[in-house]
Amino acid sequence: MVNKNLLIALCLIFFTGSFLTAQDFEYIGAVKCKMCHNKPATGEQFKIWSAGPHANAMKSLSGEQAMAIAKEKGIADPTTDPGCIKCHSTFGRIDQSLNLGVKIDEGVSCETCHGPGSKYKTNTIMKDRAKSIENGMIVPDEKLCKECHNEQSPTYKPFNYQEALKKIAHPNPAK
Ligand code: HEC
Ligand code: HEC
Ligand code: HEC
Ligand code: HEC
Repeated sequence: MVNKNLLIALCLIFFTGSFLTAQDFEYIGAVKCKMCHNKPATGEQFKIWSAGPHANAMKSLSGEQAMAIAKEKGIADPTTDPGCIKCHSTFGRIDQSLNLGVKIDEGVSCETCHGPGSKYKTNTIMKDRAKSIENGMIVPDEKLCKECHNEQSPTYKPFNYQEALKKIAHPNPAK
């Protein structure tokens, strides 16, 4: 009897485990968003992001200022240091077992702010906001920005959410 109960318990653990895995949302990389989000008529979000601070955040980690900060903190290479890349790249923030295509040099990419795209990336789901959210899409808010825009940043500048939103805006003019 004891063995039978143990078996049932093990089965439950096994099935619960695989159920959770099937629900996991994975990171696909910014290039996968580009194919639908780079048209001028709907706001070319990829192009705007590419020219902005977040797509270029890894570049700052190899500049002179980064080297000076790193030296002071005893960090050998800021471009690979987990303490730097956790805010300068989506790659540095995510569980690598959920990474299907995020490259370190894409910086702070779409999926940091909008959530891992493996399940919401289809046209049918994306057109429906509620379904997109059910499938892992995040609607970014001030709290999310402040996961990085805070005093832990060695170069922290006071963060004004409304002003910052304007600087990175990439709206869809067709909406
Ligand atoms: C197969 C095409 C396709 C792909 C791939 C795709 N999207 Fe979309 N997405 C759409 C369409 C269509 C809409 C609805 C029109 C709109 O809001 O621009 C949309 C809407 C959105 C919205 C607005 C949701 C809302 O209502 O607030 C966000 C944010 C978004 N997509 C992010 C992404 C991200 C990030 C990726 C990559 C991980 C991605 N999309 C990949 C087609 C796509
Ligand atoms: C994963 C961390 C992270 C998140 C989340 C994040 N940022 Fe940033 N942001 C950065 C980094 C890193 C830089 C600096 C990029 C550089 O210059 O190398 C930056 C730079 C900026 C800049 C340009 C510098 C400035 O202060 O004027 C703006 C504007 C900005 N972010 C707005 C936002 C907004 C708005 C949000 C939330 C919707 C947000 N960020 C979320 C990491 C993040
Ligand atoms: C808590 C998140 C966070 C961490 C950790 C972080 N950064 Fe940043 N970094 C930012 C943000 C946000 C910005 C944009 C400006 C600001 O508010 O500091 C930025 C900007 C920068 C800049 C550009 C500053 C400018 O004015 O152009 C450099 C250089 C930099 N970081 C280096 C580093 C180095 C080196 C490390 C690791 C020792 C590091 N950062 C760790 C969030 C972070
Ligand atoms: C730093 C965070 C951040 C990054 C990185 C980011 N976005 Fe956004 N995105 C936002 C915010 C904030 C909004 C506005 C949300 C709102 O209006 O409620 C937004 C809105 C959108 C919308 C809806 C536009 C509309 O008018 O309906 C789309 C589509 C979108 N983003 C796609 C992308 C794609 C694709 C990428 C990467 C190429 C990307 N975003 C990168 C923060 C980000």
